[in-house]
This record gives sequence, C-alpha cells and structure tokens, in this order.
Amino acid sequence: MRKKIVAGNWKMNTLPAEGVVLAEGVVAGRGEVCSCVNFIVCPPFTHLSEVAAALKGSDVELGAQNCAAEAKGAYTGEVAASMIAALGCKYVILGHSERRQYYGETSETLNKKMEQAYANGLTPIYCVGENLDEREAGKHFDVVKAQIEEVVYNLTAEQFADLVIAYEPVWAIGTGKTATAEQAQEIHAYIRKVLADKFGAAAAECPILYGGSCKPSNAAEIFAKEDVDGGLIGGAALKAEDFLAIGKGFEK
Ligand code: 13P
Repeated sequence: MRKKIVAGNWKMNTLPAEGVVLAEGVVAGRGEVCSCVNFIVCPPFTHLSEVAAALKGSDVELGAQNCAAEAKGAYTGEVAASMIAALGCKYVILGHSERRQYYGETSETLNKKMEQAYANGLTPIYCVGENLDEREAGKHFDVVKAQIEEVVYNLTAEQFADLVIAYEPVWAIGTGKTATAEQAQEIHAYIRKVLADKFGAAAAECPILYGGSCKPSNAAEIFAKEDVDGGLIGGAALKAEDFLAIGKGFEK
C-alpha cells in the first residue's frame, strides 16, 4: 500500500503568526479526515520553528520548500538541509517549477540538493512537470522522463525507497486550470513506468502526487485514479478548511 499524502506548499505567503494560526487550524481539523492521509505543511523557512511547535503532538508533518546544494559555509542567503532538519522538517520540496524557472535550478544543482537532503535524513518531494508549450507540442512525456532520468536515476535503491514525486504541470499551477483526472492518471502511470525501468518493483511503492490548481471540488476525482497518491497543494493550502477538505478526497 502506497502512502497517501496531502502536502501544502505555502510558497512565499503568510507571516509567521499567520502561519501558526494556519498550522493550528490544520491540526484542529485533522481528525475529521481519514488517518490514512499523511498531511505535510511546507511553510517559508522563517516560520519553520514556530510551525513545528504548533504541530507538536499531532501527526501533521513539516517540510521546507527548498534547501541549499552545499552542506555549509560561505553561501550568503542559503539555508542548509541540516538547518531545516534541525528545526523538525521531515521533508523538503526540490525542483519545484518556480525554482527551475525563476532561479535557474538545473538537474546538476538538484542532484546536489538531493544528496544534501538524504545526508540529513530528509525525504525529498521531487517535482517534475512540463510547461504549456511542451504540452501543446506533445513533449510532456519526454520532459518528465528527462527530469527523472537526470536526477532520480542517480539515487541508490535505498534513497529511492524514501522519495516522493510530485507531478505539477506548469500550465496548471496557480492558473485555476487543472489537469483532468485522466490526464493526471496517464502521466502518473508513465512516470511510474519510467521509475520501474530503473528501480523495478520498488516503483510500485513510490508516492506520486498531483499538483496544479488542486482544490476541494476536484481532489476526490483526481485522487481516485490508480497512480495518483495525493496532492501538492499551493493556493488551497493557505486555508485550513480547504486543505483539510482536499484530504477528504480520500475516503475515511
Ligand atoms: P496551486 O495549487 O496554487 O496551483 O499551486 C500548485 C503548486 O505549485 C504546489 O507546489
């Protein structure tokens, strides 16, 4: 049985005190959702410590949105994987399309970040996904294949056993335009096949999340698909009620 995961990527939103209120709301309502769902919240770095305190005693887990490619040293403005792990993070989002697009993250950088994550006991949530031009040109399969081959294929079997993938089509992020459940299933199944080509039967255990305008009204239909194991949620993760309602997309 693969893990079911609903992860909130808060991006660059909320002030620390607002983040604490949001986390408290998730903790308070969590009992209304199937205990089979693993909830993860990923606030900005600046809130990690306070949000960790708000999550204490609950099963809602903490993740960061990024980490540095290096272990430590003269890298002004960077935050090391060891630092976020020390604040209680269990997960780190890596390779988000916004990082690839706006901050020039390449597979080369991401290989180093993945190594840092594993070296510090963090589970990477590795994001893949095509942009609109690539989708319209029918290149989406090739794009995600390359994003997996160039990074995930470098992992050991042991590392791969501790990996979450998020498929996020760039054209669906923050646009209100969601992939259909069929489109999600089609590419999730493809991703699993690409993973199986390298890691064999272990690919059946890797959670693959869908991300891109996922909301309470469409989560259940998307999550019902065989190869969709949950969601990486942006905008709708900023309201505890909506985030929890997305979790209810999995039956109790
Ligand atoms: P939205 O849910 O706001 O479309 O964002 C998705 C996303 O990028 C999550 O990482």
